[in-house]
Amino acid sequence: MKFTKVEPPYTSKHGCRLVWEEAGQDDTDTVILNKDEFDSLTEILQNDSTGTVVLEDQTSTILVNSDVTQFSLQNHKLLEADTFELQKRVLEYAKIPHEPQYVHISSKQFYPSVWIREDEEEKKDVQPRNGNAKRQAARRSLLHAILHSEPEKPDQPLSESDVFRIFATRRSTRKFAKTKVEDWKVDKVLAAADTAPTAGNFQGLKIFYVKNCRTKEALVEAANKQSYVNAPVVLVFCMDPSRVRLKFPADILEKFSIQDATLAASHALIAASGLGLSSIWIGMIDEEKIKSILGTDLRPSSSLCIGYPDKKKPPKSRRRLKELIEVIE
Ligand SMILES: Cc1cc2nc3c(=O)[nH]c(=O)nc-3n(C[C@H](O)[C@H](O)[C@H](O)COP(=O)(O)O)c2cc1C
Repeated sequence: MKFTKVEPPYTSKHGCRLVWEEAGQDDTDTVILNKDEFDSLTEILQNDSTGTVVLEDQTSTILVNSDVTQFSLQNHKLLEADTFELQKRVLEYAKIPHEPQYVHISSKQFYPSVWIREDEEEKKDVQPRNGNAKRQAARRSLLHAILHSEPEKPDQPLSESDVFRIFATRRSTRKFAKTKVEDWKVDKVLAAADTAPTAGNFQGLKIFYVKNCRTKEALVEAANKQSYVNAPVVLVFCMDPSRVRLKFPADILEKFSIQDATLAASHALIAASGLGLSSIWIGMIDEEKIKSILGTDLRPSSSLCIGYPDKKKPPKSRRRLKELIEVIE
């Protein structure tokens, strides 16, 4: 794991999160610092000195040495960062004004991008705006307005089950706790899948809810031996174009049914997170093997493996929203 960046903490008003990444692998480790911890670390790094920051749990520590900074965290392996690199990134991050704000999770703030703006034109836009200026911004560009808009009701707290909070805090899990998932939660996840939109409302899909242990083991084999497929709850989403009674060519119906099955799985994934569960989406599947395991002719689109996470992890970073969207004006 290599220390790579400092980002806003997303789920609180102050502090930061420090991110480690494994080169070429789909894994990250994160340490979230609250305001006091971040201020203490910044002070040590600003003064080019060495020292220790004791974290909130009173057990974890950050030991800043001249060459390497060590993060000894409770129930976690030791994380290290090159002190020079850490200093550079933390001080750069500390320069950006992070005004205390109520946490309001909107599309702009799922993964807010924080960087130092370089040109004067952009600087003007971070200033608080009155209604007239807001209207001007809206006219300038939609994307601009999304990225710079301010929450309408910043003081309105979001409930734990608020869909935007779920989006913002969701993280895939590949290590599940042994805890059984309550039947009522599975029912809710399946019901959520059923609410997804489908082409012509024909529901061109079928969900296999696999309870049988042997079948789960066989599904591991059919998923390139990904062991976590043997999860507490395993759902296999299959396409059923024969249900889509629309007068279109077969390839279009096939396309509709893959979208139906994928959307249903996505609804199930979000519902699982909202219920305090976590999941892993499995796209790496051998379709023929799965068809034979399940005894069906229907093509599987993905599996969703659900359970309680062994360890709750913060969400992964994404690229800047600005890079994701191209506005055609
Ligand atoms: C189409 C698709 C296929 C995926 N296939 C696999 C897979 O076969 N095995 C796996 O471990 N994760 C798989 N994933 C999970 C992604 O790796 C994971 O969602 C991604 O790294 C982002 O992490 P996050 O879900 O925690 O935000 C898949 C996700 C999608 C959307």
